[in-house]
Amino acid sequence: MIYRWLIFIIHFLVSFAFADEGAVLFQNVCAQCHGLKGEGKEGVRAPSIANLPNSYVITQVTNFHDGKRGSDMKVDPQGALMALIAKALKPEQVQAVALVVEKLPLVIPAKRMIEGTDVAAGKLLFYEHCMECHRYNASGEMAFGSPPLVGRQDWYLLAQLMKFKNLHRGTAKGDEKGAKMVRMATLFIEDEAAMKNVVSYILTLNPTPEEETLFKAKGK
Ligand code: HEC
Ligand code: HEC
Repeated sequence: MIYRWLIFIIHFLVSFAFADEGAVLFQNVCAQCHGLKGEGKEGVRAPSIANLPNSYVITQVTNFHDGKRGSDMKVDPQGALMALIAKALKPEQVQAVALVVEKLPLVIPAKRMIEGTDVAAGKLLFYEHCMECHRYNASGEMAFGSPPLVGRQDWYLLAQLMKFKNLHRGTAKGDEKGAKMVRMATLFIEDEAAMKNVVSYILTLNPTPEEETLFKAKGK
């Protein structure tokens, strides 16, 4: 079943000839897994991508395309699924769709806390070892290639930290940005408990629904 659907998507990509039709591409392809608002679908482990900076989307889709991310189906089946899509895209399609993704409003994850975690310990870890690149509010710093961590779901953040720590992401030749995160995860995230603590703290940095309304009212 899933394969029939994948073949449909890939067929669509191959027959896709326009360069500036990012919105159509998003709706027909990306939304199948990432949702129409880019909110993500936990069932296929596809994260929220709404509002990710254009340059980060291009870097990641290119990494998937070039085999720098998701190249091993056995250790990273989710990345491998995304890589299948990325390989069917032309660079101009990636650029067009990245502009669409960036304009989608941030989707705040429903879950704001992981049960049984020590948020204070997570905060300390974040202040000591993460804030420098991801900024105090986890909104990211594209000058360093560090993406925003707000807007992403807990299960996705945990899965990525686990991949960096287990050397399943960020170890391909030439992936310098990924290598930075491998260093951080191996040196400073001691175990799964510490990983959950820091992710729990990151979740608290998402704007509250009230703040979100204000944000939109200001036209940002
Ligand atoms: C068949 C399902 C599927 C489709 C279709 C799909 N994706 Fe994905 N995508 C995923 C999964 C699963 C992941 C998570 C990979 C991982 O865990 O490393 C992902 C990850 C990503 C990421 C990385 C996010 C991050 O924070 O690093 C980006 C960017 C992305 N997808 C963009 C797109 C775009 C743009 C499209 C449409 C052209 C698309 N995806 C279509 C399944 C899909
Ligand atoms: C030296 C700068 C730096 C520091 C410090 C740092 N990061 Fe990162 N982080 C990055 C970069 C760069 C990326 C993008 C990697 C890529 O391009 O694949 C990233 C990616 C991530 C991702 C994947 C996001 C996604 O959307 O897929 C997570 C999760 C993350 N960092 C969490 C953390 C945590 C938690 C800490 C602290 C323990 C931390 N980072 C410290 C630079 C940094």
